[in-house]
Amino acid sequence: MSLHRSIAEARERVSAAQINDAASLENFRLEFLSRKGLLTRLFEEFKSVPSSEKALVGKALNDLKKAAEEKFKAAQASVAAPRATPQASDWTLPGDAYVLGSRHPVSIVERKVVDIFSRIGFRVEEGPEIETDYYNFTALNFEDDHPAREMQDTFFLDAKKEYLLRTHTSPVQVRVMKSQKPPIRMIAPGRVYRNETVTARSHCYFQQVEGLVVDERASFADLRQTLNYFVAAMFGPKVKVRLRPSYFPFTEISAEADISCLLCDGRGCPVCKHTGWVEIMGCGMVDPAVLTHCGLDPERYQGYAFGFGIERMALVLYRIPDIRLYSQNDVRFLSRFQTL
Ligand code: DAH
Repeated sequence: MSLHRSIAEARERVSAAQINDAASLENFRLEFLSRKGLLTRLFEEFKSVPSSEKALVGKALNDLKKAAEEKFKAAQASVAAPRATPQASDWTLPGDAYVLGSRHPVSIVERKVVDIFSRIGFRVEEGPEIETDYYNFTALNFEDDHPAREMQDTFFLDAKKEYLLRTHTSPVQVRVMKSQKPPIRMIAPGRVYRNETVTARSHCYFQQVEGLVVDERASFADLRQTLNYFVAAMFGPKVKVRLRPSYFPFTEISAEADISCLLCDGRGCPVCKHTGWVEIMGCGMVDPAVLTHCGLDPERYQGYAFGFGIERMALVLYRIPDIRLYSQNDVRFLSRFQTL
């Protein structure tokens, strides 16, 4: 058979070949295009074609090769792409609803607090949740038999009562004073634990923020201004702040800060127990004994400190009546905070 006829026949076979799946595609490749396929053999034979015929036969052979390659490529694309099933794509149907998560109200308030204090130069510090008696009590001027130790119901972790879950964020004050040189301006948000019965108003864990400023001059007036600034930024400029004398072992003088009730504008309601005021934090001047404990000279340095609970602030801001809601992960509750 002349090469010319073989080429013509091969062309017919190429155009007649049925490729409709991966297997027939591979067969086609093996038959025509592979190293041992028909085209290779024809090109081999082409070498012995007399030169007078070379131009004509060469063109026919090249056309055949192009046709086989094109068919292969087109078939490859359609085998790889699954056919669209027209009835499955009704573009007028509404899309699937996207379920958006939301931040937890405690995180929302904590971020707000961090943001407000960062603006006036407070740095965020952290401390461990498992503390020693020393940092949680002793260094903060709670004496061994001091009744103040009983103020806080502690989860002790060992029989010797050396390790415990911190009952407040105040031990972070000690860690920072021991490791940094004044001027210090810090807040420390974090979780704290108390061995208390869980009720609508108290929980065995909650979130606090500690604040501490130590400098050569830091006065009670500075503390008061800092609180005024914070309360105005957090609750709005109309909310009033008042300080009442109080007692904490690690501050001298000590105070409790109240804000005028947001819910009733100070007129009296169940949230403020009809007093018009809601207590939001403890604060005071760092006791010189605590400065000494931390290696700072109380003749040279003064400090003020404050500490408050996040859940209580969220209660006032978002009117959350039951502290247990924060830890129940009920999406009906959590989704209320989607837009905040
Ligand atoms: N640590 C106190 C508590 O948990 C709160 C507190 C009061 C922190 C006065 C302070 C402070 O820094 O100065 O009840």
